[in-house]
Amino acid sequence: AKQGLQVAIDGPASAGKSTVAKIVAQRFHYIYCDTGAMYRAITWKALQAGADLDDEATIKQLLDQITIRFEPGTPTQKVFVDETEVTLAIRQPDVTNSVSQVSALPAIRAELTARQRQIADAGGIVMDGRDIGSTVLPHAEVKIFMVASVEERAQRRLKDNAAKGITTPLATLKHEIEERDRKDSTRKVSPLTQAADAVRLDTTSLSIEQVADRIAEIIKEKEMQQK
Ligand code: CDP
Ligand code: CDP
Repeated sequence: AKQGLQVAIDGPASAGKSTVAKIVAQRFHYIYCDTGAMYRAITWKALQAGADLDDEATIKQLLDQITIRFEPGTPTQKVFVDETEVTLAIRQPDVTNSVSQVSALPAIRAELTARQRQIADAGGIVMDGRDIGSTVLPHAEVKIFMVASVEERAQRRLKDNAAKGITTPLATLKHEIEERDRKDSTRKVSPLTQAADAVRLDTTSLSIEQVADRIAEIIKEKEMQQK
C-alpha cells in the first residue's frame, strides 16, 4: 500500500509555500520536494552556458545532460546540479529574474513534470510549486493554494534577501514579484492556477505556525479517511 499521502502546495511567489511545506513534511515524516528549485537549477545552467533563454531545443539538451539533486541540510536542503552545489546561486537575482522565461518552455515543463512525478510516486510527499495540484499531481489527496497580498510578500522577500546580503529595494521587489506572477499566470502551458479541488489559504496575516497547523489538520483528516 502507499506510504503516506501526496500533498500539493501551489501559489504565487513568496506566499510562504516552501517555508511551510518543509515544516509540514517534517511533522509527517514526508519527503519535501521544491519544484521551483528545479526550474531555478535549469535556469542557472542555461545562464552559465550562455544560452539564449528562448532557445528551447538548446535548453532542453542542457536539461537532458544534468541531474538535479536535493540533499538534506540546515536550515534549507541543499541543491546540486551534478556535483556542483547551487543552493545559493539559484536564489540570486539573475536566476530569479530569468526563471519565468525558462519555465514557460513546454519541453522544459514536460521533462521536469516527469521527474517530479517520479519523485512523488511512492507518496509521503509534500511538493510545492505553481502547477502541482493542477498538472503534476492531479490526484494528490491534499491540495493547498496559498496566497498573500503583494505588499506582504514583498516585505517577506526583503527580509529573506537581507539575510542573504541581497539589497534590492522594496519597490523593485514588489514590481519583480508582480511581473513574475503575471508571467507565471499567463503562460500557455500549465500556468499558475488554483485547482478546482484545492483549499485556498490566505497567509497575509497568519504566522508560519498557524499556516502549518491548518495544513496539518487537513492532512490528518485525509489520513483518517484513507484508513
Ligand atoms: O520561491 P519563489 O516563490 O521565488 O519561486 P520558486 O518556487 O522558487 O519558483 C521559481 C519559478 O519557477 C516560478 O516563478 C515559476 O516561473 C517556476 N515554477 C514553475 O513554473 N512551476 C513550478 N511547479 C514551480 C516553479
Ligand atoms: O516558497 P514561497 O516563495 O511561496 O515562499 P518562501 O520562500 O517560503 O518565503 C516566505 C517568507 O515569508 C519566509 O521568509 C517566511 O519566513 C515568511 N512567512 C511565511 O512563510 N509565512 C507566513 N505566514 C509568514 C511569513
